[in-house]
Amino acid sequence: MSAVPLPAADPVLEVEDLRVELRTPRGTAHVVNGLSYAVGQGETVAVVGESGSGKSVSVLAMLGLLPPRVATVTGRAVLQGEDLLTMSPERLRQVRGPGAGLVFQDPMTSLNPVLSIGKQLVEGIRAHDDVPKAVARRRAAELLGEVGLPEPDRALDRFPHELSGGMRQRVVIAIALANSPALLIADEATTALDVTVQAQIIDLVERLQADHGTGVIWITHDLGVVAGIADRVLVMYGGRCVEDGTADDVLERPAHPYTRGLLGSLPDLAAPLDPDGRVPDLATVPGLPPPPTDLPPGCVFWPRCPVRSDPRCETEQPPLVTVGPGTPGRHGHVGRVLEHRAATWYQEGTAR
Ligand SMILES: Nc1ncnc2c1ncn2[C@@H]1O[C@H](COP(=O)(O)OP(=O)(O)O)[C@@H](O)[C@H]1O
Ligand code: SF4
Ligand SMILES: [Mg+2]
Repeated sequence: MSAVPLPAADPVLEVEDLRVELRTPRGTAHVVNGLSYAVGQGETVAVVGESGSGKSVSVLAMLGLLPPRVATVTGRAVLQGEDLLTMSPERLRQVRGPGAGLVFQDPMTSLNPVLSIGKQLVEGIRAHDDVPKAVARRRAAELLGEVGLPEPDRALDRFPHELSGGMRQRVVIAIALANSPALLIADEATTALDVTVQAQIIDLVERLQADHGTGVIWITHDLGVVAGIADRVLVMYGGRCVEDGTADDVLERPAHPYTRGLLGSLPDLAAPLDPDGRVPDLATVPGLPPPPTDLPPGCVFWPRCPVRSDPRCETEQPPLVTVGPGTPGRHGHVGRVLEHRAATWYQEGTAR
């Protein structure tokens, strides 16, 4: 598999051949299997794929947040010139914050329920910048104002349980942005929020990103969100990148059958969502992803692939190939796609 990330202008993060194995009661789980990509300054890369495809584990591994007794992580994850995977735990703690901020689905996982919002923000600011408390507190109030909390000065004294889910998520974003990180990682950050609040949070991240030049990794299984925010889309399946390209290319001219399956379920964006506000995924491709303890030897998508045709699909892992404008049969797609053995599928022009 190619280990060369797509060139991103001014990359803030370059991930190269990232592999994560987890020891589980059912054996070794190969959760991330040679992932390579880059995130440019001010760029939003959406990482999509069904639940279990390794999206969360790949970012947790980069930031040293997996338990070392369970996880074996190899490869490189270079954030602003420094490899996160080889730096000391102490240095990694210093780098998280100004280097990379994290926003998870449940804001309560990032907030301490017994500390006021102000205390948590002031701590976040002072962990990386040794300013007097009063200065940090003023900065904290400014940040709360920036993320749209009403009456930011008074909000400093509030506790997480006194805020709505959307407001809590804004606070988490404020903490993540307290040090103007080069990279913001949002992992299903708006999944639990209603559609209106979701749109507000997305606006907020886009605005802050434009102001601070932050690179964003936006992990989601919600393709409606992707269409709205992504510059690039990286599609993960079975711990691998199966397709990576500009949002327009991937969404309009998907090259991989898995991506096409995902997009086949993309509903009319104007249509109402299902009651829990989520967009169902991969409804058009039957079956389930393979368990990471038991990956197929050939193409990871083979057991579900509706267009498999070549015997090698079952036995050999296809490499990631770079496809560009004018590449025959690739519909002008710029990016990287897990190579297909189903060449006739393209020639028949069945791609959308
Ligand atoms: N702590 C863990 N121990 C064992 N397996 C895990 C652990 N965390 C995640 N996994 C497994 O790793 C795979 C990828 O998980 P994850 O990265 O959370 O997927 P995604 O975020 O794409 O939904 C899943 O099969 C999941 O069951
Ligand atoms: S390599 Fe073969 S099985 Fe895999 S996605 Fe392409 S056609 Fe399908
Ligand atoms: Mg996840």
